[in-house]
Amino acid sequence: MRAIQKVAVIGAGTMGQGIAQVAASAGHEVVVFDINNASVKNAEAKHQALVARMVEKGKWTTETATAIFGKISYSNTLSDCKDSDLVIEAIVENLDVKQAVFADIEHLVSDTTILATNTSSLSVTAIANGCKNPSRVVGLHFFNPAPLMKLVELVPAVQTDPTVIHDAYKLMQQWGKTCVKAKDTPGFIVNRVARPFYGEAIRIYEEGIADPETIDTIMRQGGYRMGPFQLTDYIGHDVNYKVTSSVWEAFYYDERYKPSFTQKSLVDAGYLGKKSGKGFYTYPHTVVDVDYDKSLIEKVLYRINLMLINEAADAVFWNVATPTDIELAMTKGVNYPKGLLELANTVGIQTCVDMVDALYDRYRESRYRCSPILRDMAAQGQLFNL
Ligand SMILES: NC(=O)c1ccc[n+]([C@@H]2O[C@H](COP(=O)([O-])OP(=O)(O)OC[C@H]3O[C@@H](n4cnc5c(N)ncnc54)[C@H](O)[C@@H]3O)[C@@H](O)[C@H]2O)c1
Repeated sequence: MRAIQKVAVIGAGTMGQGIAQVAASAGHEVVVFDINNASVKNAEAKHQALVARMVEKGKWTTETATAIFGKISYSNTLSDCKDSDLVIEAIVENLDVKQAVFADIEHLVSDTTILATNTSSLSVTAIANGCKNPSRVVGLHFFNPAPLMKLVELVPAVQTDPTVIHDAYKLMQQWGKTCVKAKDTPGFIVNRVARPFYGEAIRIYEEGIADPETIDTIMRQGGYRMGPFQLTDYIGHDVNYKVTSSVWEAFYYDERYKPSFTQKSLVDAGYLGKKSGKGFYTYPHTVVDVDYDKSLIEKVLYRINLMLINEAADAVFWNVATPTDIELAMTKGVNYPKGLLELANTVGIQTCVDMVDALYDRYRESRYRCSPILRDMAAQGQLFNL
């Protein structure tokens, strides 16, 4: 494995700040670069405030905090990144801008430096294609907040050299992350498999089966930390709608990923969720479980879980990742109570097939098509090997 000492983080926003902290905690010297000096200053101030808060709470000693954050320097001069062994880019989600930054940085650093992107929705292969040497470009998709979320999706581009994949994987393990390997396809693992958590919930609401409070209550009682409406309000409807739309477009408008009019209307109205004071809920909002007709469990929890299972199974079918990595991604990346393939095994594969087919028979939309892998497994009496 190549020696990785200095890490450059490009982009001093939410993700850049978190990733810099993770790299420094793992003992690396880190430089945080941003084109915007206000962002550089803001990142430094945010780190200092974090240190003050953690020391005051007694969670870190001053020595620990100094040892970690003393390793981080902040800059708006790109050449300060020149002697880095690993570059992690976390700038604005725009292909042209990312390609331009990679093209600038590849001439500064050594030939063996790994160039990683934290993109959530762009093709790593397309980003790599902006480089003279695309074989050292790889996706390292961290989750927010990066220091707390264990998962990192490692996404090789079509062009990535196997040694780069190997070294990036080993490094993420050294950093204490749960690293899963995902094919460079839209949404990678988490942002693909999780789509029905939002989409199916909104659909159930649009059909008038239950209101957001009830659906959220049922999902929380079904083991999810937050209900879908609570969660999308928290993420922000602008952000969630954009991810949904980009996954839908990237899948050539496959109906399964189609965004909803309900969420578009929220965005159009400026009801972006918690950050704007209103979304599905009006803020401040106290989360309370509401009483509901228990027959709704089947129409809400089982239906959403079923569509999540179908999506996870389809990701296995298309070789997006191994079953084990898909389970890890959904339990560590978005804290699902149980792996979806394990849930499929528990429910019974044939039962899953029958339930998806029943939805298809009712709606006649390709959104409700059963993944071929479930059908094959049911026919052969197989379970997912986890
Ligand atoms: N926020 C999340 O939950 C999340 C999670 C995973 C991945 N991501 C991805 O991480 C990346 C960054 O997201 P974020 O939420 O931290 O964004 P952000 O808006 O908080 O920060 C982006 C930063 O990039 C800087 N920037 C823009 N153009 C630049 C350039 N040419 N050179 C240097 N710096 C530049 C901006 O000044 C800004 O400080 C995106 O690709 C996003 O899709 C975000």
